[in-house]
Amino acid sequence: MHQKKTKIAILFFKNPLWLALFIQLMVFVSLSLSLPYLAQWIIPPYHPLWIVFAQAGLALIVSFVAKMPYWWLWIQALLPIGLFAGLSQTYVPFYAFGVLALLLMLVFSNVLGERVPLYLSNRITHRALSLLVMERHIKTAVDLGSGLGGVVRALAASGVDATGVEFSPVLAVLSNAICRLVGKGHVIRGDMWQQDLSRYDLVYVFLSPVPMPAIWQKAQVEMRVGSVLVSNSFAVSDVEPDDVWVLADGRETQLFIYVMK
Ligand SMILES: C[S@@+](CC[C@H](N)C(=O)[O-])C[C@H]1O[C@@H](n2cnc3c(N)ncnc32)[C@H](O)[C@@H]1O
Repeated sequence: MHQKKTKIAILFFKNPLWLALFIQLMVFVSLSLSLPYLAQWIIPPYHPLWIVFAQAGLALIVSFVAKMPYWWLWIQALLPIGLFAGLSQTYVPFYAFGVLALLLMLVFSNVLGERVPLYLSNRITHRALSLLVMERHIKTAVDLGSGLGGVVRALAASGVDATGVEFSPVLAVLSNAICRLVGKGHVIRGDMWQQDLSRYDLVYVFLSPVPMPAIWQKAQVEMRVGSVLVSNSFAVSDVEPDDVWVLADGRETQLFIYVMK
């Protein structure tokens, strides 16, 4: 019984959204309960902004202690402030929040499911990839989860037939429009798990640690012998890469290179 309960709790909090909301709620309840006691030291009334900042600060600290990923700390701190700012501005039409939420959902539609936030490969990485495709005579490449398509365009500029696959409809449409505009590569809207990897000499991923085991399995089943899997920052655990390039950028980006056997 006890084990079952623990399992349910772990499943519940496996999704960081629920943990984030739980922390906000707990901080809110604790703050509300402690305000009457605070009156002994600080005489009310309290400006609502101070309460909002207290909520934001405490939620940030608890989230940090709970070891939430860093980008969630920003969300935890900004959520109460944004909510307060939004609700106290009567000139903001009520549907603006709906439109904003819909836009965020379309852009970040796969963050919660796949645990892959949107961050982009930098120019130094683009250059390193161009070098790699020249060295290895790569003709076809795909970026699984191509974001704004920067990698796709950089690879195409090096003469590679480059494709991007992006789950978010907004990002896919926007990045494909940029590709068409500059005449380099193309992006399709789709799920990376549904792509046939046997067509590519190089598969590039910049995702998160969560999908890496499944990516490796898929690559092993589908990719041709001699083709190359490159993962930015996230290694496949328990698999020795054939090479690791450490780039000379601020974050010392690591490119893990696996040649399919
Ligand atoms: C960290 S970003 C990397 C963007 C780009 N590859 C780069 O390096 O600049 C990861 C992208 O993967 C996308 N993504 C996540 N899961 C996906 C899936 N199942 N299929 C396609 N794209 C996905 C996200 O929407 C996000 O744009």
